[in-house]
Order: sequence, then structure tokens, then C-alpha cells
Amino acid sequence: MKKFLAVLSTLVMLGSLASCGDNSSSSDNNSSNNDTKTTTAAKKDDAEANNDGDSNSGGKKTVGIAMPTKSLERWNRDGEYLKEQFEAAGYDVELKYSDNKTEQQNNDIQSMIADKVDLLLIAAIDGETLSQTLADAKAVDIPVIAYDRLIMNTDAVSYYVSFDNYTVGKLQGEFVRDTLKLDSEAGPFNIEFTAGDPADNNAGFFFNGAYDVLKDYISKGVLKVPSGKTTFEQVATPTWSTDKAFENMQNTLASYYSDGTKLDVALCSNDSTALGVAKAIDSDYSGGNAPLVTGQDGDIANLQNIVDGKQSMTVYKNVSDEAGVTLDVAKAILSGQTPDASLSLSAEAKYDTESYNNGVKVVPSYLLVPYVITKDSLDKLVDTGLYKWDSNNKYLESTASTT
Ligand code: GAL
Repeated sequence: MKKFLAVLSTLVMLGSLASCGDNSSSSDNNSSNNDTKTTTAAKKDDAEANNDGDSNSGGKKTVGIAMPTKSLERWNRDGEYLKEQFEAAGYDVELKYSDNKTEQQNNDIQSMIADKVDLLLIAAIDGETLSQTLADAKAVDIPVIAYDRLIMNTDAVSYYVSFDNYTVGKLQGEFVRDTLKLDSEAGPFNIEFTAGDPADNNAGFFFNGAYDVLKDYISKGVLKVPSGKTTFEQVATPTWSTDKAFENMQNTLASYYSDGTKLDVALCSNDSTALGVAKAIDSDYSGGNAPLVTGQDGDIANLQNIVDGKQSMTVYKNVSDEAGVTLDVAKAILSGQTPDASLSLSAEAKYDTESYNNGVKVVPSYLLVPYVITKDSLDKLVDTGLYKWDSNNKYLESTASTT
């Protein structure tokens, strides 16, 4: 009898599955909705409609993934890799992109809570704006992993998976120090800083990591900042906007470099801002030299700029590995374990229980390892399997279908 019921409920589920297409989409694509409810969430409704006591009919658990936007290239890769890897591991996925709108992201996460997902993975648009929503998740025992960006002022975050964000900045500062030989050259060299979004907790880590390497050279006069802008607040770029970075650098060049002053370095915290800065240098800088330009993420347009000599380096973060480590942590949580330093990981990551205090608690973190990519090491990206050379063997293309 039991076997008959099991077969019957499977047939019922299969029948409900057949009626549900996977309509992944996102409000970023200007679609009328960003409903990415997958077959299982629909199936769950069917299961409950059939009074199936187990909300995870068929034992499959659902993971809700909230990404900030599709307008910043890397999150398209994150979303794809996370969905791929979680589904390959037997989970169902509800993936939403919230168009860089904090209210939309709260609504998107609330709808995942209403769908009774078993775990939430969130890359916050603004780490300060999710406290109430996460309190709602905690109230119904949905664990939360903060993905890549720390979520602030809440005790509802169980874990944080990211890269060592301070080291990202440190690598940028060290690249400038070593390329200009600041320990042996007298200079002075002129530098300008472009930091990230003040709403993104990572941005401060990136800026501080770089500035801490360079501040002694600034105080010794080997490095000078003609604009005088040396604090995070003075050089931050809301929403990591390429256009805003372009405009800010245009203004800086017009105000401090139109007299022929040489710009030696434009230190940018990531690739989307570096793209805007490189564009401003291209159009508005009259010096005969090509300033050093730093970045982060390995975005396709920036890798082309690296080939063309308009950007000097990017700090690469393998977000497929980040998705893999997130899956490792999620699996442990969903099987009732308490991940710690002993958790076996699919990629190298440091277990950290000190660096990331979110204002309520120090969030236990798994921090992957970033590394520098320059024109001479682009093949390292091909070796990841996530990039390939174009048909002319000149520029890199992403192998991800979404970028
Ligand atoms: C940060 C992320 C970086 C950067 C930026 C814009 O939080 O860690 O990779 O690109 O967002 O997406």
C-alpha cells in the first residue's frame, strides 16, 4: 500500500511538474515581472494542495538566491554559477535580480519567504536595509547566508561567504607600489582614487586595503594626490556606476590636470568604475603617458582594455569557486550541521571569525583568495574554464551564457 501511495504521489508531482515551465527572468530585463519561481516552488504549492504534510515534497529543498542587479556584469555570472551548482546538487532554486533597487530586493526576499524556501542566499544591494526582512526569515527559521557582501545590523545572518576584501584592495595598492618602484624612486607620482558604493560594506575594505599600502608614500611625498581627495567618502561611487565614475574623473581632470599636470595612477576599486575612469582618461586627459589603472572582477570590457593598454590590472575573483564554497556551507546548514573551520571546501578559503562584525554580531566567514591578472597572465583566466580567446585570439570572452 505504502509503495502504491509513493508511486501515486510521484505521479501527481510529475503531473504538476509537467504543467510548470521554468520561467526564469528578471526585472533587469525589463520583463513585466521578475518571477523566477521554479518548478519546485510551484510543485510545493501542488504538494500542499494535496495535503502533503512535508512542505518539501519529494525531499527536495529550495534555495532562494537574491542578486542585486544584472547591470553590473559579475552578478550575472554569480547567479548563473549558483543556480547551476545548486541544481546540480539536487536543490531547486528561486533566483531573483532586484535591479539595484533596495525596496525591490526586500519584496523579492519576502516573496521567497512566502514560498517557504529552505535557505536564503543574499548579495545585498544595501547592507543596511534588510534587517526587518531578515527578522521575518529568522521568525520562520530560514537560515541566511550573506553572499559576497556583508548584511548589516541583523542577527539573522548565519554565515558570510566572500573573498578577502581587504586583500583585494591591498593587491591593488601593492601593484602600484611595485610597478612605480615607490621604495626606490623619489617621485613624486600623482595618483587619484575611485572607490565603490558607500552602501556596499565591501567598498570600505577595498579602499582601506589599497590606501593602507600607499598612505606612507603619500605622507612622504613620493605619491601626491592633486585633487586632495584621500578619504573614502570623497572618492566613493554610488551603485558602482560606470557613468558616475566617468563624470567624477572628468571633473577631477578638468580641475587639477588641465594645466598639464601628469596623472601617473588612477586607483579604481573595481572594473565597472575603472571602465568609466579609463573612458575619461581617453577623452579628457592630455598627458602623453598612459596612467596605471587598477580594477577588480575580470569584466569582459575591462579585459579588453587590459589588452589595449587602457587598464593595467584587475584583481580576479573566481565567482564560480565562490558559488562552490557557498554550496558547501549551504549543504552543511541544510543537513543540520554547524559549519566551522573543519568544513571541507571545494575551493581554497580562509575560515574567519574576527573580521566581519555586522553591527550586531561577528559573522563567521569563508573568504576565498583573490589574485592579480595583467596582460601577461590573461591565460590564467582561460585556465579557469570560465573564459576563452575570441576567434582572433586577441580578446577574452566569457564562457558563461549570461555575459
Ligand atoms: C562588490 C563586489 C565587487 C564589485 C562590486 C560591484 O560588492 O564584491 O566584485 O564588482 O560589488 O559589483
